[in-house]
Amino acid sequence: MRDVTNKLALITGGAAGIGAGMAQAFLDAGMRVIIADRSEAALARALDRFAAHTGKIHAVELDVRDRDGWKRTAAHIRDTHGNLHLLCNNAGLGGVTGRLMDCPEADFDLMLGVNLIGIYNGVHALGPDMAAHGEGGHIVNTASIIGHFPSMNSAIYSASKFGVVGMSETLRNEMRPLGIGVSLLCPGNTRTDIYENWERLRSVNQGKDNIDAPPVASGVHAGMDPLAVGRRVLRAVRDDEFYIFTHPEYRRVFAARFDAVLAAHGESAETGHEDDVETVGRAILRGAAS
Ligand SMILES: NC(=O)c1ccc[n+]([C@@H]2O[C@H](COP(=O)([O-])OP(=O)(O)OC[C@H]3O[C@@H](n4cnc5c(N)ncnc54)[C@H](O)[C@@H]3O)[C@@H](O)[C@H]2O)c1
Repeated sequence: MRDVTNKLALITGGAAGIGAGMAQAFLDAGMRVIIADRSEAALARALDRFAAHTGKIHAVELDVRDRDGWKRTAAHIRDTHGNLHLLCNNAGLGGVTGRLMDCPEADFDLMLGVNLIGIYNGVHALGPDMAAHGEGGHIVNTASIIGHFPSMNSAIYSASKFGVVGMSETLRNEMRPLGIGVSLLCPGNTRTDIYENWERLRSVNQGKDNIDAPPVASGVHAGMDPLAVGRRVLRAVRDDEFYIFTHPEYRRVFAARFDAVLAAHGESAETGHEDDVETVGRAILRGAAS
């Protein structure tokens, strides 16, 4: 989507953190932006922050797990704003969840519900309208570098983000013939309150009243500026790049991972029953997912 001027973007989790960084970058480029977020307070703060862009920025209260809410949002966009060109499925939760065997069911359901199912909900609710209006468009799904490597803090975060990677790699091939590009955002540490927000939500989820979660020690607070990530996303949308890696220092971790995977490819378990990799791996072998 080379020319983004006056095009309409919707960003989930757009009221704070990386989503707000995207909103800033898109507004600076002359786009119209809808920030969709579950937090009414965060939306109000964001509208204050973006007051210089009044008329180009709009807020929608939406929990990405709520499918009826997505239907209402789709109708609201059609009735009030017109064609949607850029959908950023960015809302997500991340934090310390303990060992998988000890992780409460409610935490698993919450994190997977937002990080993974929330993206399905967004694509399902808005993808058909984006494909139908004929002006082209783009979808950006936020995963994480932890969509490729094990997390130090949370197997369920890894599970959700690996899911986003797989879903997006397939989605890209499905949307291409419809004129919709897809990008997969995989940031490393970015300076946001994601850990504190998780602690707060999880407390509520578990029926506790520990609403004022103390700061959580992590590399996140020393991380990248969310606006830098937002600007990088904008470049990927304009250039139709699929993978958006913001932290190239992870390159050697990828190399080690793929070396280990290749080294584990030994003899066939049963010769004479080889899969047709030309078909199964078509997109990658032909460079479509490069
Ligand atoms: N911060 C990092 O270091 C980092 C690194 C890699 C990936 N990510 C990913 O980036 C995305 C944004 O994270 P962030 O760091 O900006 O977090 P954040 O907590 O600062 O912001 C997330 C925003 O999403 C909103 N949100 C949470 N649950 C929601 C729901 N159910 N429906 C709608 N909105 C909801 C929150 O209210 C908040 O405004 C997430 O998907 C996260 O996993 C973050």
